[in-house]
Amino acid sequence: MSEATASSETVDAGTEQLAVNRREFLNLAWLASLGFLTLQLGGYTIVFAYPRFKEGEFGGIFTYGPVSSLPEVNSSPENYPKVKMWITRTDEGLLALYKVCVHLGCLYGWNDQEVKFICPCHGSQYEYNGDYRSGPAPRSLDRFVIRIVDGETGEELAVTPDDGGPVPIPDNPNAIVQVDTGAKIIGEPHA
Ligand code: FES
Repeated sequence: MSEATASSETVDAGTEQLAVNRREFLNLAWLASLGFLTLQLGGYTIVFAYPRFKEGEFGGIFTYGPVSSLPEVNSSPENYPKVKMWITRTDEGLLALYKVCVHLGCLYGWNDQEVKFICPCHGSQYEYNGDYRSGPAPRSLDRFVIRIVDGETGEELAVTPDDGGPVPIPDNPNAIVQVDTGAKIIGEPHA
């Protein structure tokens, strides 16, 4: 073999080695970005699947307080704008009404003189307990699930029924009212 041929083979082998290293590097880089993308997607999935709401904020648990400090029966509804909620208390118990009108999503308000909730946008009206009264709204107001628990043991004493009706207030001075503003019961459609 001539010196020129040997030298050419050495150059070819070097070039091939370089090409292999480059391919390996590109493969590794591609795999690394794929792995990074998968991790990122997995992270987003977890964040969206298990959103975290802070206690006391809309979407989380709002501790309303001990039953000893509840409003009088049929007194004016209590407004909790931070968690988009009105609290009312009827003879039958406590209700947590979602503060968004079920027609097109405006924020309705309470009218003390007329003793009803009125939406300023298109005039839908609702009773003290959130039932539909008149206007274009297709149903009664939505309600949040209320749980009344023993403040010492954590035992559940009462909970909003499936139809969203009032929660009877237990005769327990340690009882605490908790409203789950992430659990909404859709209002009953009217005829
Ligand atoms: S949004 Fe309330 S009546 Fe239309």
